[in-house]
Amino acid sequence: MASSKQLLGMIRSHAIGDEANFFAIAEHIAADAAKAGRGRMANDIRTLVGNLQDEAARRRPASRPTPIFAPRGELASILHASYPETKIDDLVLSAPLERRLRGILREHRERDLLEDQGLEPRRKLLLAGPPGTGKTMTAAAIAAELGLPLFTVMLDGVINKFMGETAAKLRLVFDAVSVTRGVYFFDEVDALATSRGTENDVGEARRTLNSLLQFLDQDKSASVLIAATNHAALLDPAIFRRFDASLAYERPGTDEIRRILEVHLSRFTISGVDWTSISADATGLSQADLVAAARDAARVAVLDHGGTICNDLLRASISERAQLHRN
Ligand SMILES: Nc1ncnc2c1ncn2[C@@H]1O[C@H](COP(=O)(O)OP(=O)(O)OP(=O)(O)O)[C@@H](O)[C@H]1O
Ligand SMILES: [Mg+2]
Repeated sequence: MASSKQLLGMIRSHAIGDEANFFAIAEHIAADAAKAGRGRMANDIRTLVGNLQDEAARRRPASRPTPIFAPRGELASILHASYPETKIDDLVLSAPLERRLRGILREHRERDLLEDQGLEPRRKLLLAGPPGTGKTMTAAAIAAELGLPLFTVMLDGVINKFMGETAAKLRLVFDAVSVTRGVYFFDEVDALATSRGTENDVGEARRTLNSLLQFLDQDKSASVLIAATNHAALLDPAIFRRFDASLAYERPGTDEIRRILEVHLSRFTISGVDWTSISADATGLSQADLVAAARDAARVAVLDHGGTICNDLLRASISERAQLHRN
């Protein structure tokens, strides 16, 4: 049941028109109910809050920006809030990965159907793969597609050299996870989830890992938790089963190389491009490198080539990017 403090807080928020706080308290009550094993009540509250928020958004004049929940106090140095507009269609991914992501989004959109059968959408996702392949972009796209705020966990704020403080900061993050529904993004999670610290801080690394494992186990919220890493091999094996899905990101293959370049050069006339040679040149580059190469080529096309992109120009931009990796 809601505590008297929560009820008073809700009445007060309602009276002064503090919509964000009103809904935050309702989420809190739902989280308490879930913890107390009242899953049905928690779901009912969350559904009602979701519907009311949609209704409130519809009634809000279009010119008024969506109120952003801004982390305050100590949380401000640990969580960064944003409302991304990235769409899943903006991501260029291999077909199997795209299918899996769309499947997860669908589970959230059709959660009522799942919940009627005692199931829940997958909420804890681990994204692993090399730099620049779309992990951060995916977290943003999931938030945007589900209409949720994206809370990026700032590692500098969480990891603390003082013993035990990292666990305390992690607790703050997980308190926010249960109180404010959102997508929580733990980038470079290997910094928190490895048991192998440097010689001096093996103990602290283990404590941090254990708290993270415990918080992940205890989390019964409606938030989506996304962790990303470039170094899956460094992760402690115990972390993997805490996630509902693990998604492997890879550098683009021939088809994705072409799609990325075409999307980012769609405003230009592309003439005589030999995609086989381009794709050979681009082997080993990430999606981020290709976006950058496309922009490089676009700049030259605008200034020197009357807006046309030819094979040589594109190949030159790609080799320059590849060169950056060799330096
Ligand atoms: N799969 C992709 N589809 C389309 N664009 C992409 C993709 N991956 C990367 N990009 C482009 O590269 C930029 C950087 O990508 P992103 O930050 O998502 O990479 P990352 O995998 O999180 O890398 P890191 O491991 O270094 O954090 C994106 O903003 C986007 O412009
Ligand atoms: Mg990233």
